[in-house]
Amino acid sequence: MAWHYLLAPPFIFLFFIFMYKNHFFYPLRKRIKSAIPSSLPVVGMLPVLVANLNRMLDLSSRKLRGSNGNHFFFHGPWFLGMSIFVTANPVDARHLFIDNFQNYPKGKDFYEIFELGGDGIFIADGDTWKYHRVKAQLLMSSTNFRVFIAQLSREKIKNALHPFLVHASSQNIVIDIQDMFLRLSFDMSTNFIAGVDLGTLSKDLSENPIARAIDEVAAALFFRFVMPQPWWKLLRALGVGHEKRMAAGGRILDHFIANVIEERRREIIEGRDAPPSMLRSYMEETEVQESYKFLRETVINFLFAARDTTSAAMTWFLWAMCRYPHVEEKIMDELNSISKSITSDGLAVFEAEQLEKLIYFHASILESLRLHPSTPLNIRSVLKPDTLPTGVKLTPGMKVVASMYAMGRMKTIWGEDCLEFKPERWISKEGELKYEPSYKFLPFHTGPRSCLGKQIALTQIKMVIAAMVYNFCFEIAEGHVPEPKFSFILHMKKGLMVRVKKR
Ligand code: HEM
Repeated sequence: MAWHYLLAPPFIFLFFIFMYKNHFFYPLRKRIKSAIPSSLPVVGMLPVLVANLNRMLDLSSRKLRGSNGNHFFFHGPWFLGMSIFVTANPVDARHLFIDNFQNYPKGKDFYEIFELGGDGIFIADGDTWKYHRVKAQLLMSSTNFRVFIAQLSREKIKNALHPFLVHASSQNIVIDIQDMFLRLSFDMSTNFIAGVDLGTLSKDLSENPIARAIDEVAAALFFRFVMPQPWWKLLRALGVGHEKRMAAGGRILDHFIANVIEERRREIIEGRDAPPSMLRSYMEETEVQESYKFLRETVINFLFAARDTTSAAMTWFLWAMCRYPHVEEKIMDELNSISKSITSDGLAVFEAEQLEKLIYFHASILESLRLHPSTPLNIRSVLKPDTLPTGVKLTPGMKVVASMYAMGRMKTIWGEDCLEFKPERWISKEGELKYEPSYKFLPFHTGPRSCLGKQIALTQIKMVIAAMVYNFCFEIAEGHVPEPKFSFILHMKKGLMVRVKKR
């Protein structure tokens, strides 16, 4: 580790203390607090990033909108040589993620940050990644797997979601629907990935140690991502702060995964029947006996890929239903037009194939993801020197960040009304869904590393949201203003507080 890396953390810390204590520096403080990311002498844009962390998505979107080519360079302190190319330009995105994909791997730093996930699909590059990808794709594209996901969602809706909402509506209490979606999505994910239902969505909403461990690890990973590398490595060596919590969370997750692998192994040896899951399918294969390492990495990577992304999409969609009642009304009209089954509680549950027919509902989900993509940023590193079609030169060692959040808000891509919620923009005059290239609409990424769970996520979102809005009305709690939180996943900072009433 070079000496200047060691100096960086204390230097930045002292810099902050000095500025915030010293009145002489008021104008500079103001610049940092209010600025659209701009560079300061010596320290570059890092202080602006740290001081505005929670507003960073909006500030960088404004900067991207105003900049030539809809991209800019983020420069860190000169002594760290931190240079990040940030873009919201579809031409850049196409080049980075499709045309010259090989030159933009996730890279070594990403691998180190996400060390807990090992060589899993989400983290690895090259042949290791390809192996995971081909295997998972084969399983997830099968009809059986899709039928299984739909069945699983139906059961969870009947046995957990509906009872929870009936209870909340009868009590007339304010609930955090973001927390509810996280629990639901977690239960569904552990089910199809590892074959266990932890039942975290229940009336008493008790805390689950595995879910808590995932939250701790996710927060620590994000901390690693925004901090200079030597800093988090120092904290890791000292075993303090986020790093301490990450280590503890990692141990809990490892213990959980070891148990489920062992449980599936025993089921197979004893010839016991068990509900299908990714884990069981991988373990039942006769040609290839996957190693423990491979199975562990599959479970951990899929848990991180599936849980928060799907629940964030559901949360922002439900927010849109509360905010735009005319959209909800049109979705209700569509839901009225298809068949549904009625449970013993008198609540309607919809089938995945029926929901597939609904154009406006589908368009509304895409519209919600356009403005609130579950993963707002996408990060890559640069392998060899390259020139983008927009003329920008990139060199090895640089990082590349595509802001999906900003891309959804670009007049150059979506027109003057880009900030409005308009599902109609996805529907042609003939009433069919309009095709938009994936390098322009990036919420599920594009190219060889595009999301493998897109269809699963859409099925789950449709089934869950339909079963909610058809049977219940939701109203945002008085005085609650939802705000995006800056992290890997676009959660809401203070949750989404709502009242729920049975229709
Ligand atoms: C609304 C929900 C979802 C959204 C918005 C979403 C979005 C994304 C995005 C943007 C990526 C690219 C990440 C990157 O390379 O940096 C990705 C990758 C991935 N997603 Fe999803 N995802 C969702 C749900 C799911 C679900 C439910 C699963 C699992 C069943 C899943 C499995 C994966 C996997 C395995 C990858 C890695 C693909 C690769 O690197 O080859 N996703 N997803």
